[in-house]
Amino acid sequence: MRMRRKPNLEPRLEKCAAVLLEEPAEYRGRWRDSFGDYASVHVELGCGKGRFTADAAESAPEVLLVAVERDPSALVMAMELALSRDLHNVRFILGDVNMLGEVFAPGEVGRIYLNFPDPWPKSRDAKLRLTAPNFLRRYASVLEGGGELQFKTDNTPLFDWSLGQFSAEGWALHSVTHDLHASGLVGILTGYEAKFVSQGLKINRLVAGRNESTKTLADGEVPRLRNASLCDARGYEESVETNAKKKEERS
Ligand SMILES: C[S@@+](CC[C@H](N)C(=O)[O-])C[C@H]1O[C@@H](n2cnc3c(N)ncnc32)[C@H](O)[C@@H]1O
Repeated sequence: MRMRRKPNLEPRLEKCAAVLLEEPAEYRGRWRDSFGDYASVHVELGCGKGRFTADAAESAPEVLLVAVERDPSALVMAMELALSRDLHNVRFILGDVNMLGEVFAPGEVGRIYLNFPDPWPKSRDAKLRLTAPNFLRRYASVLEGGGELQFKTDNTPLFDWSLGQFSAEGWALHSVTHDLHASGLVGILTGYEAKFVSQGLKINRLVAGRNESTKTLADGEVPRLRNASLCDARGYEESVETNAKKKEERS
């Protein structure tokens, strides 16, 4: 769901200049030593309001964490949170996941976090899912050999569909679970995750390793996605409900 634009967005963005990168492509190929001397570069896709970003950066000060978010209203909150905690090892990019290859050189990233991406439940929108093959190949192209992608979602149909995509694209899957917190909270929670957990929802998680069999952008045309509807997904039910409510309000 798109956030409403925050009041005073522009001045607030300006105040975050220390962590917001206006020209991220300038750092391509030299991320690790542009802001210090980091052991690795991790990238978070769609960081939202940045709860996970701040906690992950704090828990691994030897790593540079670069968070990407296309919604400026969410991004500004994530940046303000990071600044309020005085974190030195996090930077933010206002932009679309599509531009990863312009910003990071091949093999420059050690880990990618993909937390609670939008499900895009309709089959015709499947290519927009951030676990669709066109995106997986972008990730593989910037990840180092042996690097990994960590994916979490509450949406089980999306998760199961994604498992098939990762396998078909040659990623090595491990730590696959449909109920991450079955025996108590595990790892760093995101903002969405905290909300879902408090509602008693189960969280799916997997880790996908990039190896020599993993397909990249160099592998040419991506497979066409057919019959990819997630009709029974929560996101779909929710959007149907919301649309019905809006209709009711209008009439
Ligand atoms: C459902 S929210 C999850 C936010 C956060 N990861 C969490 O778990 O709390 C998805 C976020 O991804 C962002 N997003 C979706 N598609 C994106 C894209 N193609 N590029 C960058 N950000 C994207 C949205 O703006 C939104 O903030």
